[in-house]
Amino acid sequence: MVSRLACGTLAFLGTAHAYIWPSPQLDALEAVRFDQLGFNTLSNTLATFVQPCNLFLFDPTIGPNAGRSDAADWIRTAYHDAATHNSTDGTGGIDGSIRFPAEQARAENAGNGFANTMGIVLAIVDRYISNADAIALGALIAIETCGGPEIAFRGGRADAIVPNVPGVPLPEQSLDSHIASFARQGFTQTEMIGLVACGHTFGGVQHNFFPDIVNVLNDPTSTDNVAHFDSTFVTFDNNVATEYIAGTTKNPLVVGFNDTTNSDKRIFGSDGNATMLSFANSPDHFASTCADLFARMLDTVPRGVELTDVITPLPVKPSSVKLIMDGDTLQLFGLVRLWNTTEDPTRTVRVLWHDHAGGTGNNTMNFISTSSSVGGKYTATWYGFNSTVFGFMPLLLDPVAGVTSLSFVVDGILENQGGLGFAIQDGFMLSQTSCQGGAPVSGRVDVAVRNGVHPSRVYLEQINIDSVQRRFITEIDITPPSHQQSVAANSAYSLWSMNLTDPAMTFTIGAEIHGIKYSTTDPLSVFEFAPCPT
Ligand code: HEM
Ligand SMILES: *[C@@H]1O[C@H](CO)[C@@H](O)[C@H](O)[C@H]1NC(C)=O
Ligand SMILES: *[C@@H]1O[C@H](CO)[C@@H](O)[C@H](O)[C@H]1NC(C)=O
Ligand SMILES: *[C@@H]1O[C@H](CO)[C@@H](O)[C@H](O)[C@H]1NC(C)=O
Ligand SMILES: *[C@@H]1O[C@H](CO)[C@@H](O)[C@H](O)[C@H]1NC(C)=O
Ligand SMILES: *[C@@H]1O[C@H](CO)[C@@H](O)[C@H](O)[C@H]1NC(C)=O
Ligand SMILES: *[C@@H]1O[C@H](CO)[C@@H](O)[C@H](O)[C@H]1NC(C)=O
Ligand SMILES: *[C@@H]1O[C@H](CO)[C@@H](O)[C@H](O)[C@H]1NC(C)=O
Repeated sequence: MVSRLACGTLAFLGTAHAYIWPSPQLDALEAVRFDQLGFNTLSNTLATFVQPCNLFLFDPTIGPNAGRSDAADWIRTAYHDAATHNSTDGTGGIDGSIRFPAEQARAENAGNGFANTMGIVLAIVDRYISNADAIALGALIAIETCGGPEIAFRGGRADAIVPNVPGVPLPEQSLDSHIASFARQGFTQTEMIGLVACGHTFGGVQHNFFPDIVNVLNDPTSTDNVAHFDSTFVTFDNNVATEYIAGTTKNPLVVGFNDTTNSDKRIFGSDGNATMLSFANSPDHFASTCADLFARMLDTVPRGVELTDVITPLPVKPSSVKLIMDGDTLQLFGLVRLWNTTEDPTRTVRVLWHDHAGGTGNNTMNFISTSSSVGGKYTATWYGFNSTVFGFMPLLLDPVAGVTSLSFVVDGILENQGGLGFAIQDGFMLSQTSCQGGAPVSGRVDVAVRNGVHPSRVYLEQINIDSVQRRFITEIDITPPSHQQSVAANSAYSLWSMNLTDPAMTFTIGAEIHGIKYSTTDPLSVFEFAPCPT
């Protein structure tokens, strides 16, 4: 009896933590991590900032001849955010504190790589993706895009609101102090050798910020006067180790003219070269060691922060799913992504929708396009719900029957998350009667609410930015219509309406139903609505 109960409890916990669509935060993190290039990716995906791998957007006048790369800047940014961690008291780590100018101004953060990456972090952060998650994702995607191994990614990092105490190692410090520093960060001496080698397969040291380590180079392919750690400084490979072991390295922290600042030399040699020799002998061993160490570095977060499970791509993922009430028609828009598949004209994909009356409708989906990810290692194909030559049309459903969940049938195989289906919330949605104009207001938002659902609240969600670059939601409640004022959308839905005064406001719609909050995903603005009737 007891063991059965324990088993049941564990099984339940397992289910509770699994990634089941829809999950707004995991859906968003999964998309930023896996939808990198091609169809239905954000306009500014992280891959567009690190590809080609010699890309250096920070100073477009010199571009690739700077001797720099955005990829290297992302990796150093993540390490310098992580390196403040104190594993004894649980403070510091990847918490986005490197975004604070006061932290960047410290001697331990010399260089302009942080100013480069922080501009891009701003474009990635949203209500579900913190500054700290964006920093971790930037480093991960730089490594994966530029020849490195695939890295396990967890999300959910919290943003610090003030700078951390200092803690990044300096090249002039002793080996003992570096061993102690990495121990404080949570890494053994062997892991320290690994992490430094894994990081220093990219980039190098700039003369401008380290004139005591690097001289002016007079090299037209390194106009920023960067002395590189290895001969292939924009790609991940074990040359940092092979060149070191062969004695041909030009790494300025190994063969620099001032031995005091030759920290890589002291670190790499600190176990009699055993670790570096193992990296030089096996590119695969180097790559797999780096995958583990980078994942741990990115998961170095302040105590109390709970990271998600490792986010793996959903094999079948609905995307851009949207319901709109159009009079007597319930419009269902959407796409589905089939992970790790290539275009195949013989494949058939059907979407099934299950309704409140126990019925199921189905429709054949059309192939739209592909996207790619993890440095081109994976391709995904995308299909539209009712995509025609006229564009992305919705499926037209009966509002009385509504829709409770979706399933897909791919070449005859049912895809429904192991029987759960892909749940759809049709309790509330935008109504097409929403309109713009109509002084003294800028427009009216009408939300169609399903009769009998009785949400405790319906509200607009406005995304704001606080003084330390964190996104937060302001909920603006819509007053429930009184019985007398209630306007029917159709026989199954009634309208809750709100006048807007700020035409520039973008928002999503939220509702609280049986104590659970739901949100629409598409940001709206009154400019999308038809003019209000006069
Ligand atoms: C004792 C430890 C370390 C020391 C003393 C050290 C020192 C340095 C120095 C002085 C630079 C030159 C920065 C510039 O000129 O802008 C640099 C660059 C870099 N470091 Fe480290 N580092 C250490 C560990 C790490 C680790 C653990 C990583 C990542 C896992 C890392 C990743 C990088 C990268 C990618 C660059 C190149 C940046 C670029 O070219 O823009 N470093 N490091
Ligand atoms: C790490 O935290 C412990 C406990 O608060 C403290 O004693 C120690 O000095 C800290 N280490 C560093 C390097 O700040
Ligand atoms: C070597 O570097 C150290 C630390 O930056 C500095 O104090 C020292 O003056 C340098 N020595 C020479 C000869 O440049
Ligand atoms: C490590 O290898 C380098 C390059 O071959 C060599 O110069 C150095 O002496 C070695 N260090 C140790 C501790 O064996
Ligand atoms: C991706 O698809 C290929 C070809 O079907 C297959 O061999 C491989 O195992 C798949 N990889 C993953 C991670 O699903
Ligand atoms: C799809 O719907 C048609 C009717 O529109 C029905 O005949 C067919 O059995 C359905 N197929 C599936 C797989 O549900
Ligand atoms: C797909 O869109 C077209 C154009 O709006 C519409 O006529 C058709 O009924 C839609 N198909 C389904 C299955 O809803
Ligand atoms: C919206 O404003 C109009 C006048 O412009 C007013 O008649 C109406 O009652 C307002 N509706 C709500 C829900 O406040």
